[in-house]
Amino acid sequence: MADPMSVSDALKTRISTRAFHDTSVSREEIAEILETAKYAASGGNLQPWKVIVVAGEARRRVIDAVKDKLSKDPFGNEADFPVYPEKLWEPYRSRRFEVGEDMYALMGVPREDKAARLNWLMQNYEFFGAPVGLFFAIDERMNKNQWAHLGMFMMSIALAAQDKGLATCMQEAWTPHAKTVAKALGVDAPYVVYCGMALGHADADAKVNQLRSKRAELAEFARFDGF
Ligand SMILES: Cc1cc2nc3c(=O)[nH]c(=O)nc-3n(C[C@H](O)[C@H](O)[C@H](O)COP(=O)(O)O)c2cc1C
Repeated sequence: MADPMSVSDALKTRISTRAFHDTSVSREEIAEILETAKYAASGGNLQPWKVIVVAGEARRRVIDAVKDKLSKDPFGNEADFPVYPEKLWEPYRSRRFEVGEDMYALMGVPREDKAARLNWLMQNYEFFGAPVGLFFAIDERMNKNQWAHLGMFMMSIALAAQDKGLATCMQEAWTPHAKTVAKALGVDAPYVVYCGMALGHADADAKVNQLRSKRAELAEFARFDGF
């Protein structure tokens, strides 16, 4: 068994992995990750999350449902909540632009090559080759606060997976197809699907996995008063 990782190391080494080996991950391994991640804090201890883990046939069913939808209605947004504000402002706009450009530069895909970029985007709908997909659902009657707590649960999963030598990529790419995903998964109202996550063994040789996204300096996001 691998040595446990410090929380700091897990935080610093976790990345969004966008190429996986097809090596399977057992139900037991994933259950252990979830058993750890369930200790994530949540306001009032509501634990306002549901997670649906798919592999094999179930994974294929979601992929096929979304691909079918995309072939008929590529731009249809089924989520009641747009992923980003309509017009992002600084510094967020540049950050979003930069990480995308850095990724395409790494892979040698130029701006004009729209087909290659679209093709790349479509990899989301194969979980980047990961054998396991997770989908996160929340009761739509919940407030913004509980959505934040669901995010903390997701991050806890990513860190617990990292500790086990597994890799993840959170995927809001599924969000515009939330209703199609919900139907394929059998998630019913009042639950809504928020986001997906790919989980598996990273392909360390894949160029895309060399991407290290930048972070703002401490002074940009933190203020210390009274020290
Ligand atoms: C909730 C959430 C959804 C995301 N959705 C996607 C996605 O659909 N596709 C993708 O390639 N990356 C996605 N990302 C990855 C982000 O682009 C990534 O976290 C960010 O650029 C920082 O890079 P890092 O995760 O490698 O540190 C998502 C991240 C989060 C937190």
